[in-house]
Amino acid sequence: MSHVAGIAVVGAGVIGRTHVDTLMRMPSLRLAAIVDPTPEAHALAQTRGVPALPDVEALAGSGLAQAAIVATPNETHLPIAAFLLERGLPVLLEKPVAESLSSALQLADVARRTGVPLLIGHHRRHNPIIRAAHRAIRDGAIGDLVMATVTSSLAKPDSYFAAAWRRTAGAGGPLLINLVHEIDLLRHFFGEILSVQATTSHAHRGFEVEDTAAVCATFAGGGLATLCISDAAVGPWAWDLSAGENLGRFPAHPVSAHLYAGSRGGLSLPDLTLWSSPGLPDWTVELVSDRVPMGKGDPYERQLAHFAELIRDGGTPLVDVRDATANLIVLDAIGRAARTGARVDVDLSPLHEATATGRSEARMHE
Ligand SMILES: NC(=O)c1ccc[n+]([C@@H]2O[C@H](COP(=O)([O-])OP(=O)(O)OC[C@H]3O[C@@H](n4cnc5c(N)ncnc54)[C@H](O)[C@@H]3O)[C@@H](O)[C@H]2O)c1
Repeated sequence: MSHVAGIAVVGAGVIGRTHVDTLMRMPSLRLAAIVDPTPEAHALAQTRGVPALPDVEALAGSGLAQAAIVATPNETHLPIAAFLLERGLPVLLEKPVAESLSSALQLADVARRTGVPLLIGHHRRHNPIIRAAHRAIRDGAIGDLVMATVTSSLAKPDSYFAAAWRRTAGAGGPLLINLVHEIDLLRHFFGEILSVQATTSHAHRGFEVEDTAAVCATFAGGGLATLCISDAAVGPWAWDLSAGENLGRFPAHPVSAHLYAGSRGGLSLPDLTLWSSPGLPDWTVELVSDRVPMGKGDPYERQLAHFAELIRDGGTPLVDVRDATANLIVLDAIGRAARTGARVDVDLSPLHEATATGRSEARMHE
């Protein structure tokens, strides 16, 4: 890969630091600057030997970077990413694409109008485990999805919530921060979600936002899934705590967090165990298990390598703003289902209308 002039990291908090470290490990890429007004970010820039800038306005005027990774709080995604795209800088924007469907649709308009690459940081899609699972499912290893169970028990320490955005409704909470990853994977594997039912609770932490949610999803293909997520529950049954994606930050417990059962077989993740019936499916016959083969590679490095290709050659992002906005439409439906107690249809038409007309304001839920 040819040399990429320089990538700025905007927002040097938890995940911004992961991006900084990943960039420093990749010889074909160069950390150009850190953009974040805090003293901690300034100190980090000093240790990495790069300029520290207070905001994206200073970055745009500096000419230091050819592209940017945006890892700031969710509610800042639209103004920061739109500002950079308008100035021709390709952006890798952390998930969720925005804090609301309305903001996501506005950003989709900016991306469409400017034509500047915008990759959304659903980094798991770059994980060799996910690549292998997707291939196996696509090739019919489990047949049609019948049922799936996804668990995400993430007991976050109290210090995590010192950043106010993480406990503010409409900005943080485990639906926007964590469940969006699970929705993205389920859609990636099994296609669009037709409708959702949901219950949320904030009984454990008492914040404005939920700490726990239980969701039932119906897929267009007919399968059903349940998702149970909490940022207050102790247990290893979560992708983050079992996949070994970010070993400096999280342990990798030897458990499954996703269970998919289909008409022909079953698959668990992140362990990639495939269960199949030796003959026709029969619950009295012992199943055989095998491990789906996978490649190697760090998902954050692979994501950045893909971003570098987009900067250099253009092309279609692996996760584009439309795809990430569809995740937000599902989250929006989950939020309404939890508030009303009703089953809510997932209406993807705002996405189609935004693409067709360039006027996303036409159909906003909030
Ligand atoms: N892909 C993943 O697995 C993953 C993991 C964690 C967080 N995230 C996402 O990354 C984003 C950041 O999350 P975090 O936990 O790292 O947050 P954080 O609060 O730890 O860090 C955010 C940083 O952004 C800085 N910031 C705020 N406004 C800014 C602005 N206008 N200009 C420049 N800097 C600004 C803050 O000073 C802070 O240092 C969120 O969207 C979150 O959902 C993704």
